[in-house]
Amino acid sequence: MRPSLCYIPLFLLVQLHLVFARPLFPLPSKTGNEEKKPLQTYRPYNIAHRGSNGEIPEETAAAYLRAIDEGADFIETDILASKDGALICFHDVTLDDTTDVAMHKEFADRRRTYEVEWFNVTGWFVVDFTLEELKTLKVKQRYSFRDQQYNGMYSIITFEEFISIALDAGRTVKWAGGKKFEDKFVDTLLKYGYKGQYMSETWLKQPLFIQSFAPTSLVHVSKLIDSPKVFLIDDITVRTQDTNQSYWEITSDDYLAYISNYVVGLGPWKDTVVPVARNYLMSPTDLVARAHAHNLQVHPYTYRNENHFLHFNFHQDPYAEYDFWLNTVGVDGLFTDFTGTLHRYQELTSPHPKDETANNLLVKIAEMITAYEGQ
Ligand SMILES: *[C@@H]1O[C@H](CO)[C@@H](O)[C@H](O)[C@H]1NC(C)=O
Ligand SMILES: *[C@@H]1O[C@H](CO)[C@@H](O)[C@H](O)[C@H]1NC(C)=O
Repeated sequence: MRPSLCYIPLFLLVQLHLVFARPLFPLPSKTGNEEKKPLQTYRPYNIAHRGSNGEIPEETAAAYLRAIDEGADFIETDILASKDGALICFHDVTLDDTTDVAMHKEFADRRRTYEVEWFNVTGWFVVDFTLEELKTLKVKQRYSFRDQQYNGMYSIITFEEFISIALDAGRTVKWAGGKKFEDKFVDTLLKYGYKGQYMSETWLKQPLFIQSFAPTSLVHVSKLIDSPKVFLIDDITVRTQDTNQSYWEITSDDYLAYISNYVVGLGPWKDTVVPVARNYLMSPTDLVARAHAHNLQVHPYTYRNENHFLHFNFHQDPYAEYDFWLNTVGVDGLFTDFTGTLHRYQELTSPHPKDETANNLLVKIAEMITAYEGQ
């Protein structure tokens, strides 16, 4: 038996906007009548990968709220379905690596082995648990070298809870789901007012991207909702989940021309854009240039501060990595585990033009006059 819901992840990015009522997760910064901030569109997007999961366990309300506080343009989530069909925010098909399920004696007999994408995987599968059971678990940090102090504090959240964070707060979210719940996924989005083509007035009110590694899934979803879609691309050795196509095939000019009818961009694993050898980056491929030629954005994943993940070229400096990807490669958005770091980098190097205070403007005018007088 295969867990039928888990194979074809469908990822979604929802921009968070309003700062009003928060029925499910009260925000400390809630003020009740704060002006909503429009999505910035003048510089590449800061996409909080599973929330600010470098700091707080992934895909929890706390991780998303932290990312919003830190300046994310979008928050990203993955969507899976529980045994009773509830859509939840969770990345892995098993609960083992990011929850305390192993400590729950009542679930000891729930371990199973299923074939997942051509491999046998043993563990506690999300699809074998009802939402009520999932809510009894606590989420923990995936990596041992990250801050463990939040382990055991937060629960798994539902997709609707995630949307409520997005609608109430003011920045970003993502979800992924299996093919069987694409319809339910789209229904949920429409219920909360998410729709509209990229940069349309409706979209700018509630921006989101829907993402998937499965091209047929994106084509299917295109018939249901006009929100912008992003085609996710894995390592060059990995074939597409549904159509079993190679990386070379799906990044050919012919294929980019075809997929550009359905998607606004590509979300490639960053090592496929710039190949790596012995932990050094090699020369960039022409993927970004060719994607741009087809009017496709490029949002690579995933940027992480730790030296574990930084290639040697960057000398343990995540700012050097952002500089390279933004200014040399020229990408349009970045998935990061550390939204705060990317936000600070962008604020330093490309602050919002409208953020200029009257005082800054006066200083600039004074400098212009001084320069003129000095001539
Ligand atoms: C998974 O395990 C089952 C039962 O042992 C076996 O029949 C099957 O061939 C295995 N599949 C893979 C992909 O290894
Ligand atoms: C996918 O395609 C490759 C290359 O043609 C082939 O070797 C492999 O068996 C295919 N996998 C499936 C599941 O069809």
